[in-house]
Amino acid sequence: MKILLFVIFFLTSFSKFAFSDEHSDEQQIIAMGDIEYGEYLGAECAACHLQTGVSEGIPVINGIDAEVFVALMLAYRSKLMENPVMQMIAGRLDDEQIGSLALYFSKLDPPK
Ligand code: HEC
Repeated sequence: MKILLFVIFFLTSFSKFAFSDEHSDEQQIIAMGDIEYGEYLGAECAACHLQTGVSEGIPVINGIDAEVFVALMLAYRSKLMENPVMQMIAGRLDDEQIGSLALYFSKLDPPK
């Protein structure tokens, strides 16, 4: 019995530790992603985010690190970052879709 209680205690404190890790949200969202789904969803983004270079204030998103990508999308979705276009776009994406887009765009070559 004591051993069982110890195991339960250990598991609960470990999961608290795991979920308070500052990167765990991003990593969990990336883990939900599917790269082919990301390619499908990403077609819409390419209309503004050209593959070749910065155009009219729109940054290239090809080759962004997946965790950074998720953090940026969450910041737009929660309106922490101010751009109204990206707030609207991120606002209708769920975690699985953001994870899928992160996998897809992080695998693309950044512009030369
Ligand atoms: C209507 C044009 C438009 C569309 C469509 C669009 N974006 Fe954006 N995106 C922008 C603009 C403009 C910015 C720069 C905003 C800023 O300065 O904060 C931006 C910024 C970003 C950034 C931050 C890049 C950085 O380096 O700071 C990411 C990530 C991003 N967009 C992802 C996406 C994804 C994923 C999609 C498709 C689901 C998408 N965008 C569709 C216009 C667009």
